[in-house]
Amino acid sequence: MADDPHALFDEWLAEARLAEPNDPTAMALATADAGGRPSVRMVLMKGHDARGFVFYTHLDSRKGGELAANPRAALLFHWKSLRRQVRIEGPVEPVSDAEADSYFATRSRDSQLGAWASDQSRPLDARATFEARYAEMRRRFEDGEVPRPPRWAGWRVVAERFEFWTDRDHRLHERRLFSRAGEGWSEGLLYP
Ligand SMILES: Cc1cc2nc3c(=O)[nH]c(=O)nc-3n(C[C@H](O)[C@H](O)[C@H](O)COP(=O)(O)O)c2cc1C
Repeated sequence: MADDPHALFDEWLAEARLAEPNDPTAMALATADAGGRPSVRMVLMKGHDARGFVFYTHLDSRKGGELAANPRAALLFHWKSLRRQVRIEGPVEPVSDAEADSYFATRSRDSQLGAWASDQSRPLDARATFEARYAEMRRRFEDGEVPRPPRWAGWRVVAERFEFWTDRDHRLHERRLFSRAGEGWSEGLLYP
């Protein structure tokens, strides 16, 4: 029984990497606007350590605007094959430019060009407009290195609360709750 939720998360993710047919790092990201209206979408978790959970996106996307107005988020991993879910909540902080640059450099060239071509979450009149922008970026960067677009960046969700949920027969599920307590964590159970 791990008493550090970050270590327990790593154990569960390692099992999910073996069990899930695709995207074991996919997580639902919930944000809310300044008025408290929620929205949720999937993103890929691109880094995890004791500081938190990192994902990358466009700062001018809907989620980017909501996080700027209300810098807190909730994450949900659901590993269907394992019948497990993990819920994570806490404030967000921007990933450093150096960290975002080094992750962007690992992406395929096509994904890098896509990040330049996409005005994420803005209305698009026709698919052809996006394809034309993509072709334009191809020409713009030719064979040179593609730098990280200035409005494409990473956020880190700093976990204050984790819940590990395990399926049990007859819906007698197990729920382990970890809450931040000073430098450590307090742990308890929840009724299913
Ligand atoms: C499995 C999966 C992974 C995704 N990963 C990301 C991601 O890492 N970053 C991202 O910006 N969008 C990702 N998307 C697309 C988002 O779900 C969403 O469509 C997009 O970010 C726009 O969301 P917004 O308008 O709420 O900002 C992913 C979608 C799926 C289904």
